[in-house]
Amino acid sequence: MSETMVRLTIDGLEVEVPSGTLLVDAAKTVGIDIPVFCYHPKLEPVGMCRMCLVEVGTPKFDREKGEVIRDEHGDPIIDFWPKLATACTTPVSEGMVVEVESQPAVRGREQIVEYLLTSHPLDCPICDKGGECPLQNLTMQHGPGVSRFIFEDKMNLDKHVPLGELIFLDRERCIQCARCVRFQEEIVADPVLTFGHRGRHLEIMTFSEPGFDSYFSGNTTDICPVGALTTADFRFGARPWEMNTAASICPHCPVGCNLSLSTRREAKSGGDEVVKRVMPRQNEWVNEIWICDKGRFSHHFAASPERITHPLVRKDGELVQVSWDEALERVADGFRAAGDPLVGLTSGRPSNEDLFSFQQLVTKLGGNPYLYDSLAGGAYADAYGVSSGTNLSEMGPGDAILVILSDLHEEAPIWWLRVKQAAERGATLVTLNARPTRLDGFAAFHLESPYQGIEAKVVALLNAAMGRQPAGGGSESEAIGLAGKSLAEASNLVIFYGSEGLLYQESESLVRTCMQLLDETGHVGRKNNGLIPVWPRGNTQGAWDVGLRPIEGDLEGTLKSSAAAYFLAVDPIGDDPALAEALQDNTFLVVQELFLTSTAEVADVVLPAQSFIEREGTFTSGERRVQRFYPAVPRQGEALPDWEITSKMAEIMGIELKGTSAAGVFLELTDQTKVYEGLNYPALADAPDQWPDVGGEDVYFGGTSYRNLQGIGVQLPHDTSGFQLLPLDLEVQPKASGDGEILLVPVANLYDRGILNRHTTLLKDRLAPAVLKMNGALAADLSVQDGVDVEVHVNGHVHLLPVQVDESIPADVVVTGLSQELPIREPTYVGIKPTGVKKKT
Ligand code: SF4
Ligand code: SF4
Ligand code: FES
Repeated sequence: MSETMVRLTIDGLEVEVPSGTLLVDAAKTVGIDIPVFCYHPKLEPVGMCRMCLVEVGTPKFDREKGEVIRDEHGDPIIDFWPKLATACTTPVSEGMVVEVESQPAVRGREQIVEYLLTSHPLDCPICDKGGECPLQNLTMQHGPGVSRFIFEDKMNLDKHVPLGELIFLDRERCIQCARCVRFQEEIVADPVLTFGHRGRHLEIMTFSEPGFDSYFSGNTTDICPVGALTTADFRFGARPWEMNTAASICPHCPVGCNLSLSTRREAKSGGDEVVKRVMPRQNEWVNEIWICDKGRFSHHFAASPERITHPLVRKDGELVQVSWDEALERVADGFRAAGDPLVGLTSGRPSNEDLFSFQQLVTKLGGNPYLYDSLAGGAYADAYGVSSGTNLSEMGPGDAILVILSDLHEEAPIWWLRVKQAAERGATLVTLNARPTRLDGFAAFHLESPYQGIEAKVVALLNAAMGRQPAGGGSESEAIGLAGKSLAEASNLVIFYGSEGLLYQESESLVRTCMQLLDETGHVGRKNNGLIPVWPRGNTQGAWDVGLRPIEGDLEGTLKSSAAAYFLAVDPIGDDPALAEALQDNTFLVVQELFLTSTAEVADVVLPAQSFIEREGTFTSGERRVQRFYPAVPRQGEALPDWEITSKMAEIMGIELKGTSAAGVFLELTDQTKVYEGLNYPALADAPDQWPDVGGEDVYFGGTSYRNLQGIGVQLPHDTSGFQLLPLDLEVQPKASGDGEILLVPVANLYDRGILNRHTTLLKDRLAPAVLKMNGALAADLSVQDGVDVEVHVNGHVHLLPVQVDESIPADVVVTGLSQELPIREPTYVGIKPTGVKKKT
């Protein structure tokens, strides 16, 4: 349906915009910036600050005749409203005349600035926002120059109020615009901020425990139009004009949020450039202007003093620091002596360039390179993944989204946010999982199933969608019938899938069923249709694209039968201590890493890799968008990019690997990888204009989000050539279980106790506790109690861990997050014994 357009005049300029557009946005389309504080293009307008006052007139109307009254020249007679109006709450109307620069409007705004400053501390010279502060800028542009208020009457309020340990409030600086409160309520549905008290004593408060309990809290510091909200790590850390900016991509989950890293040279870091803050870079197709707090804060791992900074080689049983030449010679000797077979293992953490080089080297050495991440489906992304042009923000009424076995809030927070918003706009959201997730509350249909029965439920949805569902029978089958029908009828359908509780082969079977569903309902090969795998790492899709595949069969057997192993960005022993035996005796082991992991500790050679903030490369997101990131700070010690280490290794062993720079390797990758054919840096750097324009010259419109000048990346096209959907294989493999054993399911937490989060001290109080969760009935059966340690017997090892009774956990399983206390990589049957002795406090 085409939009009705409305014509009006703003400061003499003719404007034509869709009906319903607010005056403030209409003015922006012709380059007129009406100043705002409380208004934000991503939030509902509230008209609280009155900074956007303008004069508004509308054509005089003869009600009896039902027509506009005109003057002797035939022009409509304009009736100006008796009072100034707020442009942020006034929608346009046909023939409206708006005066932004008239004397009454200018005077009105002057008075608002004067009023806002009556109790502002004027500490611009030391304020974190100074230099990029909307209040500072708008005071210079619209303020009266002098104030009639008495300085001594100014309120003196607390200047360092913790709203939790990540965000601080300077009460004196707050202008009570409520952008932060509204962001928390409207955008992320975490209403943990509010206004307390009244009148001049009005103040922002948090009422959650812990304070400001939200995965998105840092965004409020960006959209706060003054320096009232600051992050714990940036507060008093630098002034905006001192900093350099590097474009980056968040590596922590498959969303691939666009980041800007602000850096500065510092004496306390020996004169080196260090990251002072991480902010979103606008990409309306990926993260809009938001990032989650993990993306904002967990970069601190890269500056940890525990990083490996020099090559290490084992001598007399000890790892000792050596030169790169010596370490690489040792690698070459070790690989040559070991002969075949060499096993390579990597994850979706490194960049495309690293993974491509790794794959090439291991293959050329006659070995087998494998992917450690164990969710299936990457090989089908070309044919069934979402296609170029996909934008979750476009999904709404008439569209549908199905989320299977994934807790998006924990695994990929910005996808959670965008899916929730699509549902709020009217898309039909169907969630299907074995335990409740936060997304269920926004779903039209929430379907539950035991882990082993999930695939059968997808088949039931498919049958319902195709009208093959037998009628009747209970509210559950009714819900499946209705949900299936809405999936079939949807104009567009996106399926997010994870693999919680499934082994690799089971997730392969699930993804095939999802493909069948997309195929039969005609939701393939178009934008906003297809699969989005919720990969465990930021670049797992890239790993599949360069040809890496998970091990079919058991990892332990593969490692045992290998004479040499090359591990890049994986820690199998950390995830399963039983694997130490498989690796210790005869395997020559090379580990390329950031930290001395449990696996690195037993390696023969450890090679120091650079983190994402020190180097360049590309990542491919779960939505198949290839995006480029750039170096922000110098390397730590002698660490090198992974692709360069691999390249040096190849050279010393007389193997030719093309590409002597990240750009060179990328070129080679695009030459040899069909779906990346034709991709190049200029295409990745394409930076179209985006709406809303939040990061222009005038930062006041959207806060301090960065305009994206470095490119929005390229979403890969759809390609089904040569792909055939195989018939469904619905056989579910039952897992073996010993007597009395219980299925332990690893689950995702945003702040898991993995190696990167553990090295981010700022997040230490937010890490998910290492606990074994089970429901009350199972706890009673096992004679264990909430908060009391139990013995967990897994793969011949015993771990002590407190129980947390949680009624949302299915009765026949126990769950735990990633931790050193109970290392587990995939669903495993375990024995649980009460100790009854150690009460955790
Ligand atoms: Fe507005 Fe900032 Fe105050 Fe929140 S803290 S009400 S965003 S000025
Ligand atoms: Fe990073 Fe994912 Fe958070 Fe985005 S949602 S900032 S990619 S962890
Ligand atoms: Fe319009 Fe605040 S009232 S910006």
